[in-house]
Amino acid sequence: MKDAHGRTIDYLRISLTDRCNFRCIYCMPEDGVSQLSHEDILRMEEIERLVGIVAKLGVKKIRLTGGEPLVRKGVVDLVEKIGNTEGIDNVSITTNGVLLPAMVKQLKAAGLSRVNISLDTLDEEQFKMITRCGRIETTLAGIDAALEAGLDPVKINVVVVKSLNQDFLGFAKMTIDKPLHVRFIEYMPVGKTDGCDGTGWGKKDVIPSEELLEIINRRAEEEGLPLLEPAGDSRPEGWGPARYFQFPGAKGTVGFISPLSRHFCSECNRLRLTAEGKIRPCLFSDEEYDVRAALREGTDEDVRAVVLQALGAKPDEHHDKVGTERRMSQIGG
Ligand code: GTP
Ligand code: 5AD
Ligand code: SF4
Repeated sequence: MKDAHGRTIDYLRISLTDRCNFRCIYCMPEDGVSQLSHEDILRMEEIERLVGIVAKLGVKKIRLTGGEPLVRKGVVDLVEKIGNTEGIDNVSITTNGVLLPAMVKQLKAAGLSRVNISLDTLDEEQFKMITRCGRIETTLAGIDAALEAGLDPVKINVVVVKSLNQDFLGFAKMTIDKPLHVRFIEYMPVGKTDGCDGTGWGKKDVIPSEELLEIINRRAEEEGLPLLEPAGDSRPEGWGPARYFQFPGAKGTVGFISPLSRHFCSECNRLRLTAEGKIRPCLFSDEEYDVRAALREGTDEDVRAVVLQALGAKPDEHHDKVGTERRMSQIGG
């Protein structure tokens, strides 16, 4: 599938639910109330059917997101079905990790290729503050469970926010002894921004990746550690736009995802599906295409037509847009 800007689109991110067992302040409303009723949400069979159709159009990679994808009943089965779909060669999950100790073995046996785990701070109290209710041990246990299960690569997503004063070097050092790939993500002003969502975060809170690399190297030097160098062949498998570095001899890598400072839109390879069956051509755009009606009442050709309409509407880039109608918990990152 090629879009109007000549980009090959072979990756679909599927949000399975807008619910979550955390309430991260930048992602969820405080009461965590789902906007969606049971009927609104795509059924697993509908998702399977859509995957079959987009696979024929050229999608090869599927990522399950949320909210928290592992709270959706039937997710293990879905991973297996997607993995067995002709044309799909990879299925992965982005999760907060809490349910991994209980589920990762089954997920791996079902064919899960890899996981990305969200962890924004190494400080117990700050973790509680950000997630509104979570305990850091639960996510750390999830990371260990993913490594023990042999998933490879295991990536950690750290959303970088200037006012949080996160321990960047502490995160980077996690990659020395364990095969972990820590990725620092520039905070994106998605949802209601500049205070309306209660965080008070906005563009002023973005630390550009270049600057962050310098900060980490400066702190590494102060501790007598070597500097980060480009990771070359040690780069983990991925479909996203991260750039990877590594401490010499480390087991893992340190990545940077720079949606704001380094517009990677020209390399965009993805479409998104929301839990209630809307295809979103771009994370930053509120334009959406309803594929649920076609899945419930239409033929495969009707479904394909909606996918192709969304494909045709992919913008060339995000044009520094600030704020979206939907929160991150409804889009899935
Ligand atoms: P890999 O295949 O492992 O590289 O994963 P990924 O980076 O595609 O996915 P993940 O779910 O781990 O997302 C990491 C970060 O990248 C999150 O903050 C996402 O919101 C962000 N991200 C993913 N896709 C896009 C995109 O198309 N545009 C922008 N601006 N950000 C994106
Ligand atoms: N900016 C950047 N990344 C974000 N994520 C959630 N909200 C934002 C934001 N505003 C990350 C989550 C998760 C991934 C899917 O998106 O931490 O790892
Ligand atoms: Fe849940 Fe992830 Fe959103 Fe936090 S960022 S509320 S863990 S979906």
